[in-house]
Amino acid sequence: MDIRMVINEKKSIIDDYLEQYLSKQEGIPQVINEAVRYSLFAGGKRLRPILVISGCEICGGEYGKAIPIACAIEMIHTYSLIHDDLPAMDNDDYRRGKPTNHKVYGEGIAVLAGDALLNSAFELMLGITPMDARTLDAVRLVARAAGVNGMIGGQVIDLECEGKEVSIDVLEEMHNKKTGALINASILAGALVGGCSDKEYYLLKEYGSRLGLAFQIRDDILDVIGNEKILGKKVGSDAANKKSTFVTLLGLQRSKEKVAELAREAKEFLRYFGGKAGFLAELTDYLVNRDS
Ligand code: IPE
Ligand code: IPE
Ligand code: MG
Ligand code: MG
Ligand code: MG
Repeated sequence: MDIRMVINEKKSIIDDYLEQYLSKQEGIPQVINEAVRYSLFAGGKRLRPILVISGCEICGGEYGKAIPIACAIEMIHTYSLIHDDLPAMDNDDYRRGKPTNHKVYGEGIAVLAGDALLNSAFELMLGITPMDARTLDAVRLVARAAGVNGMIGGQVIDLECEGKEVSIDVLEEMHNKKTGALINASILAGALVGGCSDKEYYLLKEYGSRLGLAFQIRDDILDVIGNEKILGKKVGSDAANKKSTFVTLLGLQRSKEKVAELAREAKEFLRYFGGKAGFLAELTDYLVNRDS
């Protein structure tokens, strides 16, 4: 399997749907429309929507059912990046290979563009018809993962830990929440709309939590050894903000080992799915070894 080809196929399905959805929004101020599109179509990896589709397919679902939730999660993720880059948070100038949203549109509009994406995401999900019980569970799961128990909670810990040396346990909690929660919710929301069994849900939850942590540790590593051109964002942001990361706590080598170990463990939970897990297993390796 050429993993890049499969990723690109799934990406273009997501991009087409997002484009279609946004083009239907009428009567909104031009600047917010532009600011939202600027960040949403800047060339993100679309990892989370791909995980939603994969979670659905691995449980035997038809991927079309997962597309609205997949796109909504990408909108939530993009909002989190716009806000994460603001001067009040990580104060970063580049994202997805372009100047950050606030650099182009100003901080006020960047805040509102993030807010707009978050609300549009829920409008999109709540417009799914028919809205069956499983789909509603998936929407609730996404809301929780993006909120104070998940992404926002993790970002709070991240801010509060700036300039402090923290324990590995606090760092793991921070990573699991700020990044792991939405990654895990992506797979599980897909699994729910794909008609998963309880056992499948449990296995994918164990898989997703490990992938999410590994993904953020790899992000910490790339902030040190990454290439800005490939990465599309500046390296050294964590050091500039005096963040505790896996690299500052464990060093590069042990951080890389931890990522490899988490990926190995994660893939163990895919065994049960047999041949159907082929793509997700390859995607796992691809993501933990990525350069961007
Ligand atoms: C960046 O996420 C922020 C983290 C949670 C590590 P991605 O690495 O998925 O960024 P994009 O979506 O490809 O830009
Ligand atoms: C961000 O973590 C996690 C989010 C919830 C956006 P980082 O601050 O490390 O992400 P990057 O490195 O800016 O993409
Ligand atoms: Mg941050
Ligand atoms: Mg950041
Ligand atoms: Mg980072």
